[in-house]
Amino acid sequence: MKVVQAVFCALTLALATLAVAQQPAPIVIKFSHVVAADTPKGKGAERFKQLAEERTHGRVKVEVYPNSTLYKDKEEVEALQIGAVQMLAPSLAKFGPLGVKEFEVFDLPYIFPDKAVLQRVEDGPIGAALFQKLESKDIKGLAYWDNGFKVMSANRPLHVPADFRGLKMRIQSSKVLDAQFRALGANPQVMAFSDVYQALQTGVVDGTENPPSNLYTQRMNEVQKFVTVSNHGYLGYAVIVNKKFWDGLPPDIRTILEGAMKDATRYTNAIAQQENDDALAKVKATGKTEVYYLTDAEKAQWRAVLVPVQKEMEPRIGKDLIDSINKESASLGYK
Ligand code: LMR
Repeated sequence: MKVVQAVFCALTLALATLAVAQQPAPIVIKFSHVVAADTPKGKGAERFKQLAEERTHGRVKVEVYPNSTLYKDKEEVEALQIGAVQMLAPSLAKFGPLGVKEFEVFDLPYIFPDKAVLQRVEDGPIGAALFQKLESKDIKGLAYWDNGFKVMSANRPLHVPADFRGLKMRIQSSKVLDAQFRALGANPQVMAFSDVYQALQTGVVDGTENPPSNLYTQRMNEVQKFVTVSNHGYLGYAVIVNKKFWDGLPPDIRTILEGAMKDATRYTNAIAQQENDDALAKVKATGKTEVYYLTDAEKAQWRAVLVPVQKEMEPRIGKDLIDSINKESASLGYK
């Protein structure tokens, strides 16, 4: 009897092993990004991972590499193009070096009076046309993820434009942001996001701009004594994939992933504002960084200096594109 049982167990084990061995290996999506996990983009990436793996019943495995642990700024887009990673969510300010400089329209100071205008732009023909421009680079745009409006930080108070004079300010790789800080009399310096904290700590640069969630999760507030809640510009993301990889997916898998991305996008955009509000509150609570809100008169001075950057950038971005966004604002009652 014992022999029969032993044979039965051995057979069952062999069949189970065979069944597992016959399952195809999961499709792996490496999702690399440069911010902390505890940010809107970091949480959005994890939500996409959870939904994609659950809904494909393990046929897809998403490996999220946050905080530049796999690739830092410039490298990550190159890695995507050669297929070393399959998914990224770079800031919209980082597509100029890729040859799609129109994305820098999102960097223009005061181009979006609020997120309602931003949403109409991203969800409508303007957002779709920008994604279309990525296709010739073998990149497919899947979604726009929100982070929010940027604050300025430095080790001197930044109340009026003259306060920026001579400051070395870290920027993302965007000619619009270069023009923005030159208009303020500052000296813009492009630098990878992962290098910013140390550059601020050592004085390589004097200050920077980012939504509060990035400032706080990278501990920049520990090396920046003054934050100004200027909301002078916007920072968001395009979730992008290697086009060959995406087009090569089994159609049923691609449809499931499109749904997972849609729901992860809804989630990310729903938490972004609160995440940034909470981060700003935490910066204030440390008591080590002054958080300053501009007066209406100061806001008017900032706008007077920065809104002309929109005109200055027409040759680079296209007057029609800038006008189309300002028309969207007008359709929502903004002049
Ligand atoms: C930056 O480089 O400041 C941001 O793009 C980082 C990010 O991805 O939010």
